[in-house]
Amino acid sequence: MAAVSPPSSTSWPDAAARTGAEASASRKLNLGCGTDIRPGWVNLDRAPLPGVDVVHDLDRLPLPFDDQQFDHVCAKDVLEHVDYPRLLREIHRILRVGGTLYVQVPHFTSVDNYIDPTHRQRFSIRTFDFFVGAGARSYYFDFSFAAIGERRLTFFRGPLLWDYLLEPVVNLHFKLQKYYELTFLSRLFPAQNIALTLVK
Ligand SMILES: C[S@@+](CC[C@H](N)C(=O)[O-])C[C@H]1O[C@@H](n2cnc3c(N)ncnc32)[C@H](O)[C@@H]1O
Repeated sequence: MAAVSPPSSTSWPDAAARTGAEASASRKLNLGCGTDIRPGWVNLDRAPLPGVDVVHDLDRLPLPFDDQQFDHVCAKDVLEHVDYPRLLREIHRILRVGGTLYVQVPHFTSVDNYIDPTHRQRFSIRTFDFFVGAGARSYYFDFSFAAIGERRLTFFRGPLLWDYLLEPVVNLHFKLQKYYELTFLSRLFPAQNIALTLVK
């Protein structure tokens, strides 16, 4: 089962030294990279920030990549900004069979949903089941991933004790994650993010 840790991040010291050919030779794509520039990855953002290899609006499809071009795609803190079902279809197209998509999005109880005025979407731990073959409503879409790897709810690491206690317990099993969302627990103890891996 694919691990759910985000790909490692380091700053890109010399963005100007990176050619377009080097960028397109990479098999890893960092979507909506912002300032999280990853060496060895194709870093894409709408904003022409230092280190961005491909400047592109993710609501403008198709993406400028070939079918099955990538082994890994990272979509960390970006799907909430865009029309993400259409984008997932494109990510599915450009991933090789067996390739992985790492996703991090705000949980629907997170205050982060409301702080950023450019957030357009809300997510449950169950949202991505719609994009997997065995999902009950996967017939909504004309593409599907093979599986969801490990999925986690994460909590703010603030001064509150329960943030530290709840995370390992809730993530013991998918049934506990669903129970958390369906009950008062999620309203009393809001989560921060959902992190998961989709496997093509
Ligand atoms: C919250 S930041 C996350 C940055 C980075 N992934 C990280 O985890 O630090 C969201 C990024 O998505 C980019 N973004 C938002 N809407 C976009 C769009 N339609 N097309 C491309 N990038 C977009 C923003 O420019 C911003 O850099």
